[in-house]
Amino acid sequence: METALYDPERGFYATRKPQADFYTAPELHPAFANILAAEIAQRLAKVREQRPRSPLFVVEMGSGTGRLARQVLTALRDEHPRWFRRIRYVLIERSEKVLLDSIFDLQDLGAGVMGYSDLSDMPPVCGVFLSNELVDAFPVHVLTKAHGEVRELHVRPRRKHGRKDGAVKAEPGPLSKKSLLKHAQAVAQDLPEGGTHAVCLEAASWMSLVSRRLKAGSVITVDYGKRFNPGDPNPPRGFRSHSHVADLLAASGRQDLTASVDFRALEAAGAAAGLTTALFSPLSSFLLERGILGLMPKGDSAEAWAERAKVKTLFHPEGMGEAFKVLIQEKGASHS
Ligand SMILES: C[S@@+](CC[C@H](N)C(=O)[O-])C[C@H]1O[C@@H](n2cnc3c(N)ncnc32)[C@H](O)[C@@H]1O
Repeated sequence: METALYDPERGFYATRKPQADFYTAPELHPAFANILAAEIAQRLAKVREQRPRSPLFVVEMGSGTGRLARQVLTALRDEHPRWFRRIRYVLIERSEKVLLDSIFDLQDLGAGVMGYSDLSDMPPVCGVFLSNELVDAFPVHVLTKAHGEVRELHVRPRRKHGRKDGAVKAEPGPLSKKSLLKHAQAVAQDLPEGGTHAVCLEAASWMSLVSRRLKAGSVITVDYGKRFNPGDPNPPRGFRSHSHVADLLAASGRQDLTASVDFRALEAAGAAAGLTTALFSPLSSFLLERGILGLMPKGDSAEAWAERAKVKTLFHPEGMGEAFKVLIQEKGASHS
């Protein structure tokens, strides 16, 4: 999964064409970023009160092409200029080529945009960290049940007549990491024979790194998933051309591989690292309570109708509204 998604030349994210296989919220409509920018402005004001002399940063992790950055910065510039002038905007994007292109592309906004391909290279700062559809893009370990026993799927080159034929196959084998044992025990009862369960070990280590890089402020995580109960299976999925794919191992690098985010695990990792949950909400109520209906494009033209349908997809329960969640965690809220 690591190779299929992140090979620097042939990996899915090095070559992804936005909107070809799935839409992210900023690819759908800028109304999402407008609401996010207002939330960011409010949270920057809070950090300013706590740390009046600290420089303020907005750090977007998994920034991809920079489309969300452009929309957030534009909304800050137009609607919250006080904060636009005071922040530095940092992009964190593991694909270096994508990162460099996006920093270059954002120069015309006249904002202080900088970037790192690895969050651990960034010094600790005060401000707001955000991500949209980052955590679902972390590679996962896949557990399965074979002959009544929970094992891990190992991906290997496939051989025909003793020779590698260029394809790969997955076979149940021993757990590759000790830390998978508790996950295997938790799903042992509810995982059906032959079923699969994705375990994202990177999510917890990422959360604690985020906390180490945030001196004071907020972390906003938007992604699809839920608070999984221990033992709930979470099968990995693949997408290509807006459809589910049946074979996750086919067309390596040309299809998205992903798994729903376990927000309960993220919150637990955050709490262990000093972050307090301030909000956990479906995307629908997050957007509706902050006035997305007021951002509905007006008019009777075909274009206005099409734009309204896109905004509706953001908050409608059958669009992104229920499947996507917003988690906001805080650090240093009571310090000054
Ligand atoms: C699904 S895309 C989301 C892009 C963008 N946030 C959006 O909403 O349109 C996920 C992005 O996260 C990047 N990514 C994955 N793991 C990362 C990590 N550990 N650090 C930084 N970026 C990462 C991928 O390269 C990819 O560009």
